[in-house]
This record gives sequence, structure tokens and C-alpha cells, in this order.
Amino acid sequence: MTVYTATTTAPVNIATLKYWGKRDKTLNLPTNSSISVTLSQDDLRTLTSVSTCETFTQDKLFLNGHQESLESERTQMCLKDLRSLRRALEESDPSLPKISEWKLQIVSENNFPTAAGLASSAAGFSALVVAISKLYKLPQSMSEISKIARKGSGSACRSLFGGYVAWEMGDELDGSDSKAVEVAPLEHWSNMKAAILVVSADKKDTPSTSGMQTTVKTSDLFQWRIKEVVPKRFEEMKAAIIAKDFTTFADLTMKDSNSFHATCLDSFPPIFYLNDTSKKIIKLIHSINEFYGETVAAYTFDAGPNAVIYYLEENEDKVFGFLYKLFQNVEGWDSKFTSERLSALASAFND
Ligand code: ADP
Ligand code: DP6
Ligand code: CO
Repeated sequence: MTVYTATTTAPVNIATLKYWGKRDKTLNLPTNSSISVTLSQDDLRTLTSVSTCETFTQDKLFLNGHQESLESERTQMCLKDLRSLRRALEESDPSLPKISEWKLQIVSENNFPTAAGLASSAAGFSALVVAISKLYKLPQSMSEISKIARKGSGSACRSLFGGYVAWEMGDELDGSDSKAVEVAPLEHWSNMKAAILVVSADKKDTPSTSGMQTTVKTSDLFQWRIKEVVPKRFEEMKAAIIAKDFTTFADLTMKDSNSFHATCLDSFPPIFYLNDTSKKIIKLIHSINEFYGETVAAYTFDAGPNAVIYYLEENEDKVFGFLYKLFQNVEGWDSKFTSERLSALASAFND
């Protein structure tokens, strides 16, 4: 009895131009293109192992030690697509083991809060799809595999690439041109850094999938955003990344985070992802930029209260000097910061 296994890790990506809204729920096709930066695997990541064996009786997923349902239509779509690519391989090469019909066991672990607005669905579905495509030894390109990850969770299609990534919304009805592409590799602008301020690790009360559906159905502001705001910003942000123009990149990133959260507030009933701590962080970053008379840091918030701060390595002291000074009495805080200390810092804002 042979057991085949494959393991992979996938990083989180944090959008600087947000995806929010689906034009096709089944295929997970977005109402706008988006851009993100993929974080280093040393920070936030998903680790997923998959195995398959003739004797397994059902597909199973264990996430962070608990069995989860695999019934959701989105997960089923991913499994179906991957199995049919494997089946095609087996048909073209009869010497290959016929594992496409065997059941799968998937074990996954996120090393950061799940469903808290830190893109767990992006790292999670990216890892799931990449692990199974490794298990099946699929020859498809990353862009092709990204289309399958997209059906699991839209943002997941961007986690298949490192560095600066665009998800082109495409216009085909079948989604064949809705895929992730690289804007620039990480090395192109390698002094870009991201700090995560964990304001709350709690599970959000409005999951991204349902939140964006309410917005699409009810927000007038959203219509303006997807028609008038995002298409222009998409081109401007790609140009800023290619030119390594931090001021433009940072200003667009902050404006787009604010625009996305404004459409959440304009939804009916309104959706609140930012809390008072998030708002304090927004104000603080603007104060830091004002103090130096230049944009040294940019905030962005996904569908949750946790902040991601983008800055250039050479400005680390400028950005964090303020925070050190403000929080020098916070326990565990010293002149070097780590994500744990940043968590302490963010919770100090709550007081
Ligand atoms: P987030 O802001 O963390 O992306 P979402 O609401 O978009 O939150 O998605 C959270 C959901 O993504 C989880 O409830 C779970 O269904 C799925 N998910 C998260 N991590 C994984 C993983 N490692 N493997 C499979 N699915 C995952
Ligand atoms: C605010 O990709 O989590 O993080 O496609 O329904 O799984 P589903 O949604 P998801 O939404 C991400 C929303 C966002 C912005 C972004 O990552 O672009
Ligand atoms: Co998500």
C-alpha cells in the first residue's frame, strides 16, 4: 500500500490595492483588479501537507489541529480542478499511478491568527492548491495554478508569487483571464519592509466573502470605487512599484485602504472592520509623516482591525523611533522590535 505525500508553505500577501467585490460568486471573479505585496515566509505563513492512499475513505482537512468541513463549494471547486488535471496526466501517460480518484488528507497550520484580517484565506488556499499540485506533479504554470487558488479564495491567487503581484480581473465569462501576474520580484525593491501590528487576534464577525457581498448589493460608493477610482489607481500603483517611488506607492496604499473601509461603512447594514486602536494607528502614521515632512510609512488594513505598515528599511528608526519613545515602558519592548513586541505595542494602544 503506497501513500503519496507532499508538503508546502505559502506566505501571506497584503493588498495595497484592495480586492473587494465579486462579479461571479461561483468562479470567484472580482469586480476590480488588485495589487499586493507577498510577505516573507519567515513571517506569516501556512504550512500544509497532503497525502493520498487507495484506502482513505473520505477527503479530510485538519486546520490548526481541528477537523474542518471540506463541503464548501469553493474547496470542492479546487479539488475538482486539481483532480481533473491529474486525470488528464494519467490518461496521457499510462505508466503514472492512478491517484486522481483517491481520497486526500490535508493537514494545515497557520502560524498567525486565522480569519482575523491577516489574509489566512490567501496563504491557506494557496498552500492547499500548491501542495496538491505538487502531490499530483502537475506541469501547469504558476499563473494557471493561481486560477484554481482564486476559486478557493480570491486573494489566494496572489500568494503564489513572491514580491509585487497584480491580480488582473480579466473580462472573460469563464474566468480564463482572471489570474495573478508578477509586477516585480522582491529583489526589485528589496528594502521594502512590512510590520504587522496585531490589534486583535479574534475571529472577525463578518467573513470577507459575506462582507463583500453586502457591499456589492448595497453600497453606492462601491460603484464609484470600482468604475472611477480603482482602474486609475491600478495603473498608478504598478508604475510607482516599477519606479520604486515610495511616496506615491504609500499615498495610494493608504488612500485605497481608506476607500475600501469607506465602502464597508457605506454598506447597509454597515460593516465595521476598523476599531478605535486601528484609527489611532492611522492618526499616528500621518503624524509621523507630517513630523518628517515626507512619507516614510504607509498603513493598510484588510477586513479586520490589524494594521500592516509598509516602510523602507533605511527609515526604520524614523518610523519606530516614535513608537519606541511612546512605548518604552511597555513590558518586553526594547530598542529592537519583533512581531511579539509589536503585538505588545498594539495592545498598549487599547488602554
Ligand atoms: P482572513 O482575513 O484571515 O483571510 P477570511 O474570512 O477571508 O479571513 O477567511 C478565513 C477562512 O479561510 C477560514 O475560516 C478558513 O475557512 C479558510 N482558511 C484559513 N486558513 C486556512 C488554511 N490554512 N487551509 C484551508 N483553509 C483556510
Ligand atoms: C480586504 O480573498 O478573503 O483582504 O475571495 O471571498 O475568499 P474571498 O475573499 P478574500 O478577500 C480579501 C479581501 C481583502 C483585500 C485583498 O486581499 O485584496
Ligand atoms: Co481572506
